[in-house]
Amino acid sequence: MNMQNTTQGLFDYIQKSPTSFHAVSAAAAALEQAGYRPLLESERWDLQPGDRYYVTRNQSSLIAFRMPERVEGFMVGAAHTDSPCFRIKDNAAVTVEGYTKLDANKYGGMIYTSWLDRPLSIAGRLLVRSNRGVESRLVNLDQDLMVIPGLAIHMDRSINEGKHLSAQVDLMPLLGKGKVDFFSLAAEAAGVRKEDILSHDLFVYNHDRGTRVGAEGEFILCPRLDDLQCAYGLLEGFLRMEEPKAVPVLCLFDSEEIGSQTRQGAMSTFLSDTLRRITGAVGLSEEDHLRLIAGSMMVSADNAHGVHPNHPEKAALTSRPKLGDGIVVKYGSGYCTSGVSAALFLDILEQAGIPYQSYFNHSDVTGGRTLGGLAMTQVPMYSVDIGLAQLAMHSACETAGTADTGYLIDAMKRFFAAKVTETDVGSYIVEG
Ligand code: CO
Repeated sequence: MNMQNTTQGLFDYIQKSPTSFHAVSAAAAALEQAGYRPLLESERWDLQPGDRYYVTRNQSSLIAFRMPERVEGFMVGAAHTDSPCFRIKDNAAVTVEGYTKLDANKYGGMIYTSWLDRPLSIAGRLLVRSNRGVESRLVNLDQDLMVIPGLAIHMDRSINEGKHLSAQVDLMPLLGKGKVDFFSLAAEAAGVRKEDILSHDLFVYNHDRGTRVGAEGEFILCPRLDDLQCAYGLLEGFLRMEEPKAVPVLCLFDSEEIGSQTRQGAMSTFLSDTLRRITGAVGLSEEDHLRLIAGSMMVSADNAHGVHPNHPEKAALTSRPKLGDGIVVKYGSGYCTSGVSAALFLDILEQAGIPYQSYFNHSDVTGGRTLGGLAMTQVPMYSVDIGLAQLAMHSACETAGTADTGYLIDAMKRFFAAKVTETDVGSYIVEG
């Protein structure tokens, strides 16, 4: 696949994924096309060697895996499906001065100003009453529907001097003129009756499409690159892997932007439960399960900060990732990468000739904990934090490197098919 097709594939995936529900639904559709069959957590699993499966939790996190002839360790790749946005409240429509605007809570840590004066839409899920009980319906209004208008400079001459914006005052999206019945719009888009809606998880999202910028198209400008660029890279790598030597496991987790401590987030039991059910299905003992986890490996992929052309001083002195220059391996406090996990992963990259670079925090900055670090509290594997370099993380529209998506796909295609074996303290065999 060339860079043009890879980039278009990424933009298409992101456009189909305005929310974590849709990111999971789009991934599930691609997996089903490749022969992966859905499992329900609430049903008994009968897993057959050679078969392919996936399971979702809350419809917003997904784990896919292939059952080998013999279960001998796991090769796990994880990314997150959610991005900073606004969550629409109940009775959200507010009428003021002959306009209708929506009341919405912030979800995650977004850059407020980046949400002003651009086309926005609404997506999520509706829980509706049906003749079979209660059903979830994904909904995407998928049009240039709303705008959060900024204030004219004539009304605030100090607007360029660092402005405090209030989510409750300044960030309410404008939906229309007169009294707009918001839930009727949502019901119509979902093909349900408004009176059948029992509850909802609806979000405001940036309706911009991805585009290439730069003199040679070397950058991509697109909403939700954190972390759908990695989610897409992992998904595509997983779909393209050749015959795996261990159990390849693809994880797409929701809730990263709000701390991962939900039923479906990286700190939940979703991964550990799934791995336990896989080893249980082939009759392995608790002893064998722990033995396999200890010798398994995880790549936690979440986008990284590239060095900023206008603020080079923000980067660490010696680790300065550039957009388009390859996979970023993240080291230091807050990251789960160790010398061992980095070496095992880099061995796979070097065997394949895939470019990589390193990231450390600026020495005066404390990093947060990542997806991988949090998941490790549940499943203590060798884990490495990676990402693709980007600018303006958590802006409504982010900038990354065009070439990097393909590097991640290639890397994960090889990682998922690989196997790591610990032979002694400090000795490992990597079968790439
Ligand atoms: Co992220």
